[in-house]
Amino acid sequence: MYDVTSIRSDFPILSREVYGKPLVYLDNGATTQKPLCVVDAMQHEYLNANANVHRGVHYLSQQATDLHEAARTTVHKFINARSDNEIIFTRGTTEGINLIASSFCEGFMQPGDEVIITAMEHHSNIVPWQLQAARSGIAIRVIPIDDRGELILDEMDKLFTSRTRLVSVMQVSNVLGTVNPVKEIVRRAHLHGVPVLVDGAQSVPHFKVDVQDMDCDFFTFSGHKAYGPTGVGVVYGKEEWLEKLPPYQGGGEMIATVSFEKTTFAELPFKFEAGTPDYVATHGLATALDYLSALGMDNIQRHEQDLTRYATQQLETIDGMRIFGHSTDKDAVISFLVGDIHHLDLGTLLDRLGIAVRTGHHCAQPLMARLGISGTVRASFGLYNTREEIDALVAGVRRVAAMF
Ligand code: ALA
Repeated sequence: MYDVTSIRSDFPILSREVYGKPLVYLDNGATTQKPLCVVDAMQHEYLNANANVHRGVHYLSQQATDLHEAARTTVHKFINARSDNEIIFTRGTTEGINLIASSFCEGFMQPGDEVIITAMEHHSNIVPWQLQAARSGIAIRVIPIDDRGELILDEMDKLFTSRTRLVSVMQVSNVLGTVNPVKEIVRRAHLHGVPVLVDGAQSVPHFKVDVQDMDCDFFTFSGHKAYGPTGVGVVYGKEEWLEKLPPYQGGGEMIATVSFEKTTFAELPFKFEAGTPDYVATHGLATALDYLSALGMDNIQRHEQDLTRYATQQLETIDGMRIFGHSTDKDAVISFLVGDIHHLDLGTLLDRLGIAVRTGHHCAQPLMARLGISGTVRASFGLYNTREEIDALVAGVRRVAAMF
């Protein structure tokens, strides 16, 4: 039994008002709200067990280290990695992709080598490759999408050449909601001997992710989109790849020995974790993942799928409604425009009604260019949203549309 009323009581912020109206928070694709257990766990650590990890012999340092390493194990089990060695803590998905782009290019790419991405990528999976292109002369190839917002996999097959070194693809589009067939993409890439990086920023909060089943070589996600704290994220990599990749940043715990002549690097996973990690945030993230596991990812997915279907049906009854993204497998994101109302006007007026949505290009300008628009309004759902909130959104959009 999925009791959304009880779930909402875990998130105090959801009971607040904005402009004298009940908050309707539909910007979960940007960040999610935090359950009390996450805030409590972090407060408890700061008040009771705060010390730098991996460095001290003293009691508190050991306690903080234990919490931090327990968090690594929680993540490893949550995404079904093989071991803790495959889990690297980062600041978030963006840093995760930058880490792989930087280390992979340094270790495995020559000028003229190619990376394949998709036409729907977030800037976080475009710009790091462009930086590497400028530095190392690599080339970027792009899998096109069709008018439903699905990748054209037959076109992807044509992009592989003897110079292809990596495929980097988002699992779920933050604009279209498209759930990409990453398992099939990995299968096809591996036929060419090419590894795959999957951006899981918009998938981990919504459905069960199993990196072994997917067989991806790298996977990355953010804590704050998965009901955890800001400033923490994860890179998963198959151990055989992480062993071979050069480090990303230097300093702190990522060394084994240092002299002015030569440094040797620490074992996995520490080789990729320079500097003091945000060990309180990793504990908060693990608490959030435990919270998701207790609710059950399948239950969360079922609830959000119901909301997405209901919202789509209701929004489509509005005159002039244009929804972007009609993939068969679609996640809890609906991007839309109404008539010729500018997305910023629509979003701003919805805000005055207490409804929080995102407007703009959603950090996906090449996708906007493909769609021939400058931006959309985006409603993105989380595990605590309700049909009543969808009704409020639809009524709000109708009201704004009537004003124009
Ligand atoms: N990437 C986040 C979003 O899509 C910020 O809103």
